[in-house]
Amino acid sequence: MREFSESYLSRTREGMWADSREALEPLALDTRDRILDVGCGTGELSRVLAAESPGEVIGCDADPDLLSAADAHVPVVAGDAFRLPFPDDTFDLVVCQALLINLPDPAAAIAEFARVSTDLVAAVEPDNAAVEIDSSVDAEDDLERRARGAYIDGVPTDVALGADAREEFDDAGLAVLETRRYDHVRTVEPPYSEGALRNARRKATGAGLADDRETMLSGPLTEAEYDDLRGSWREMGRTVIEQMEAEEYRRTEAVPFFVTVGRVPRS
Ligand SMILES: C[S@@+](CC[C@H](N)C(=O)[O-])C[C@H]1O[C@@H](n2cnc3c(N)ncnc32)[C@H](O)[C@@H]1O
Repeated sequence: MREFSESYLSRTREGMWADSREALEPLALDTRDRILDVGCGTGELSRVLAAESPGEVIGCDADPDLLSAADAHVPVVAGDAFRLPFPDDTFDLVVCQALLINLPDPAAAIAEFARVSTDLVAAVEPDNAAVEIDSSVDAEDDLERRARGAYIDGVPTDVALGADAREEFDDAGLAVLETRRYDHVRTVEPPYSEGALRNARRKATGAGLADDRETMLSGPLTEAEYDDLRGSWREMGRTVIEQMEAEEYRRTEAVPFFVTVGRVPRS
C-alpha cells in the first residue's frame, strides 16, 4: 500500500472544496443518515461531508497514523477498502476521495462499498495526467510535466483514473447516475505561506523529486534521464526561491477531480 504523510495530505488538500461544493450535489448530502468515507486519510473530505450532512460521518483508513489525525474531525474505524469492517447495508452513502487511483483493483473496492451501502456509492478521483501549471518560472511547467509523466509511467495503479472511474463502477455492477468535474486550483503568490516556502526549498534541494525516484525508475525512465531531470529541477527550484525573495513568484496549479456517483442495485 502506498503511504502518504499527514503533511503531504494537508499540503495538497489545502482549500479543497472551500470555493465550490457544486460537484458534490449528486450525493444529496442533506438527506443522508450514515456516510462512510473510505481511505479518509487525515479526514479532509470527511469534514466537508460532516459540514454538509445532518447524518453521521465515519472515516475509515488502513493507516493508523492518518486516522489519528482524522479523529479530530469525525469518528474513525481502521479497515481495508477490500474488506470493510461493517455488516451489509450499514450506510446510505459510501464515498472515497483519491483512493481508487491507489488501488490495484478499483472495481473490487467499489463492489465492497456497494455491499455496505443501501443507496449510493461515490468516488472523487483526480486525473493526474491533466494537471495544469501556470508559473512565473518558465521551466516549471515543462519540468513538472516531465516528472509527472515519468511518475505515471512507473506507478502500478491508474493515477490518471479521473472520469474513467465510471468504467470501474460499471464493472462492479453499479448504475452510474452522474459524473461531475471539480477543478482544485491552488495559487501561490505573495505573501508566501510557510507551506509555499517549504515547497520551494524541496524543489531547490530535489527532495520532492527524490521521494518519487524509485517509482519513476520503475518505468522507462533511465538513471541518466532521472539525474538530468533532477539537475534541471533543482536549478528551477533555485529560480523559484530567487523570485520569491523579490516577491515576484506566482504559480497556479489546477488538478481536475471527477465525482462519479452510482446507485446500488436493489437485491
Ligand atoms: C491519496 S490519500 C487520500 C486521502 C483522503 N481521502 C484525501 O483525499 O485527503 C489515499 C488514502 O487511502 C488510504 N488507503 C490506501 N489503500 C487503502 C486500503 N486498501 N484500504 C483503506 N485505505 C487505504 C491511504 O492510507 C491514504 O490515506
